[in-house]
Amino acid sequence: DRRAIIFDLDGVIVDTAKFHFLAWRKLANDLGFDFTKEQNEQLKGVSRVDSLKKILEWGDMELSEEEFQKQMALKNENYLSYVDGMDDGEILPGVKKVLDYLDENQVPYALGSASKNARPILKKIDLYHRFDAIVDGTDVSKAKPDPEVFLIAAEKLNVEPQQCVVFEDSVAGVQAANIGGMLSVGIGAKDVLHEADHVFTDFTEIELNFIDKLLNTEKK
Ligand code: G6P
Ligand code: MG
Repeated sequence: DRRAIIFDLDGVIVDTAKFHFLAWRKLANDLGFDFTKEQNEQLKGVSRVDSLKKILEWGDMELSEEEFQKQMALKNENYLSYVDGMDDGEILPGVKKVLDYLDENQVPYALGSASKNARPILKKIDLYHRFDAIVDGTDVSKAKPDPEVFLIAAEKLNVEPQQCVVFEDSVAGVQAANIGGMLSVGIGAKDVLHEADHVFTDFTEIELNFIDKLLNTEKK
């Protein structure tokens, strides 16, 4: 029973989670309030529009539809200015070793990201051509924790959801994988990602024989 892997992008493959945080924080600060790193965990994996809604709730603010759209565009402009100079040096440690191993063993893998910027970012870090399928924020209508993005990825890989292992740095993404019936591996802090089937601080902690094990275990 061969499995496939689905990777989230931001905070899993590449260190862009810090840039999303910076850009959202700037937006909040410009509107006259702030939010914490703990609150930021709730934004990870969450679509652009839902993120802004949450942030405005934290700041107890309401915006007109026009101003809301303007702020979303502004956030994205700032975000893109931060990722502009990015190259394959921003790929997180240990990720390439795992991708190489999957290639050697002909294990298919897909990207499952909420970001509408996923494709250009994959191109910047020179990984675009390596994925067997890419599903991103431009392909889905329901945001994580809805499993839609991962279910489409499984379909594109021609595997059942139960055959998939998902790597995620966000609470919403771990929940999406679990709801979709997939094995979830959290990348980040254990206390934050406690709903995941396994948690690692980063990919350097993951032994290649553990990847084999993952590919052969059933979801409980
Ligand atoms: C990822 C990130 C979120 C981000 C979302 C939408 O899931 O973890 O922080 O808000 O994608 O990204 P976008 O690039 O479309 O604004
Ligand atoms: Mg992420």
